[in-house]
Amino acid sequence: MDFENKVAFVAGGGGGMGLAIANALITQGCHVGIADLKSTPDKIASGPGRHLYHKGDLSQDEFVSDAVNATADEFGRLDYLINTAGVLWLDRDKSVIDMDMDVWDQVMAINLKSFALSTRYAVPHMKKAGGGAMVHFSSVDATGGDAPAQDAYGASKAAVIRLAKSLAIQFAGDGIRSNVILPGPTMSPMQERWQNNEQAQQQVAGFVPLGKLGTTDDMADACLFLLSDKAQYITGVELPVDGGITARV
Ligand SMILES: NC(=O)c1ccc[n+]([C@@H]2O[C@H](COP(=O)([O-])OP(=O)(O)OC[C@H]3O[C@@H](n4cnc5c(N)ncnc54)[C@H](O)[C@@H]3O)[C@@H](O)[C@H]2O)c1
Repeated sequence: MDFENKVAFVAGGGGGMGLAIANALITQGCHVGIADLKSTPDKIASGPGRHLYHKGDLSQDEFVSDAVNATADEFGRLDYLINTAGVLWLDRDKSVIDMDMDVWDQVMAINLKSFALSTRYAVPHMKKAGGGAMVHFSSVDATGGDAPAQDAYGASKAAVIRLAKSLAIQFAGDGIRSNVILPGPTMSPMQERWQNNEQAQQQVAGFVPLGKLGTTDDMADACLFLLSDKAQYITGVELPVDGGITARV
């Protein structure tokens, strides 16, 4: 897995998984453009790769275009796109019967449209670089219904899988791969409600065949594999990184 002097754009890189991925890449000598709504996190790895942080809303076309192009301009190329931005609004994202449809639109804009926008601006740079790889973050939640429902989240995550497969087919001839990770329950700022609640953590871990919650490093390890040349014959797949949840009938 050789990332030295390659260039990546991590959308949602201020969050748990995105930051773990950005740091793993920087540590391996990759230069990384990081974009997130949040201000620059304290814990960005110091090198050997360099980074450029863009604060803004990834559902906004102009911001995404500027951030992706600035990354490619600064580092001279773009090889990888990692889409991790997402929101899980448990209080507002409900059954379509009950929810405010403005919330539906916002979730779709962040969890799905932002992925389309980053791809739209990254692909021309990857073509120029002679190929590349993308990893898009869906969820095990995309594989079935749930109660209580988070219908916008679930539908957006299922759509990510279909979009990623389409991109795999569209750009295979350009040497650009597109794969999806389906995380299981993972300790990150998104799941803050479990942070200081040992009982909740144990309850969730009880649903996982491997008996524990995932870590952001578990997701980064899988992501770097899919980005790397070790996965050069893998495109259009969805990889559950879920401790066995989706293996259960
Ligand atoms: N943590 C889990 O248990 C879990 C499980 C399954 C899937 N996922 C998915 O994995 C991905 C990463 O999740 P995470 O756990 O690192 O969550 P996280 O909340 O730590 O990170 C998500 C990041 O997206 C950013 N973001 C949200 N809206 C944005 C916007 N409009 N513009 C720019 N940035 C925006 C947030 O600021 C945050 O930093 C998400 O897509 C999530 O849905 C997470």
